[in-house]
Amino acid sequence: MKKEIINLDAVVDRTEVPTLKFDGEVLESIFGEKDLWPSWVADMDFQTSQKIQHALCQRVGHGIYGYEGSSNALSVAVSAWYGKRHKWQLNPDHILFSPRTLSSISALITLFSEEGEGVIIQPPVFYDFKMIINANKRRLVKNPLNLESEVYQMDFDHLETVAADPNNNLLILCNPHNPIGRVWPKEDLSKLSEICIENNVFIITDEIHGDVTYRCNYTPLASISHEASENCATCISPIKSFNLAGVANSMIVIDDNEKRSTCENWFNRLEVNRNNVFATSAMLAAYTDGEPWLDQVIEYLEQNIETLRNYLQQLIPSVKIIEPEGTYLIWLDFRELGFDVKRLETFLAQEAKIAGNPGHWFGREGAGFARINIACPRSILVKALENLEKAVSRLARSE
Ligand SMILES: Cc1ncc(COP(=O)(O)O)c(C=O)c1O
Repeated sequence: MKKEIINLDAVVDRTEVPTLKFDGEVLESIFGEKDLWPSWVADMDFQTSQKIQHALCQRVGHGIYGYEGSSNALSVAVSAWYGKRHKWQLNPDHILFSPRTLSSISALITLFSEEGEGVIIQPPVFYDFKMIINANKRRLVKNPLNLESEVYQMDFDHLETVAADPNNNLLILCNPHNPIGRVWPKEDLSKLSEICIENNVFIITDEIHGDVTYRCNYTPLASISHEASENCATCISPIKSFNLAGVANSMIVIDDNEKRSTCENWFNRLEVNRNNVFATSAMLAAYTDGEPWLDQVIEYLEQNIETLRNYLQQLIPSVKIIEPEGTYLIWLDFRELGFDVKRLETFLAQEAKIAGNPGHWFGREGAGFARINIACPRSILVKALENLEKAVSRLARSE
């Protein structure tokens, strides 16, 4: 496919349109300041592929935006994408569309567990999992990850214990794992799946970051075996990889026929069974023509990570990077600064001018860390690092 010319160094003013990440009032209410590097929302500061922009313009130009039936062409394109890029032969008929990934996860929790039952998560992990478990009146059950020689690992012994509790019937997996950037290896996925199958724990696997990985392949849980695929619901979406969070729909793939039809009936009952016409156009263009753009973006992100790594090593050695295998969310280790969670929060926003995500937002297991988002032009990243360096140097001088 022909490479499109893209300039990821271009700084596009996102305040020209309503943008959560850059909204001054929101920044002030969360971080106490407006004039910060907005790095807290997981979207990119890059314009999406021209192929997608063109498809959207064409759809807008048609001028009629009436009801649309379900798009078989889109399901087939999604299946082809996963077959080629991730070696997962997913059945297009097993894809259900939903408005958002979090809507999918909430529906799956509602349908496949009862109030008061436990849902297992592996913190530090995307904070909305906790929020959605609580909102559904389920019990949060933690199987915390362990940091071993700077690599996060799942705790399978503890998982066996919590999975054995008959009140815990669901587990939410995050692969690749937001915020730590781990792309779970096949052996870990097999082990996790086996433990869950043995204990009747159904897995909701959130794989929406799966397209962005660095020098390693992401393995969809459902691709590892027939048994694994029958015991999970996989949430996928192009929103992260193609920067379409404001336009695209999300998808759930469920191979278990009974569970899929339960879920489909639920979406029919809620009447969330009509695609948005712009979502269909954008998603179809992404999955059919977007690959060369994505590959260039991944290359640029890798260079941003290298810039970040070198800058920290040379100029801010007290802040360490947890090497990401995937996602553009980078987990930084601030523990050497010796701050408690409140002090780290104020240090980041008020002194370093970074509107990032303090690690404890992802569970107390994240205390001492913070997540930043490096999907931005390199000049912006370097400026943010300069501010961080100044803030850390001021600390040293004031000691
Ligand atoms: C792992 C993960 N799941 C879900 C979401 C939210 O997806 P959606 O906006 O489709 O609900 C995010 C957004 O950051 C995420 O990182």
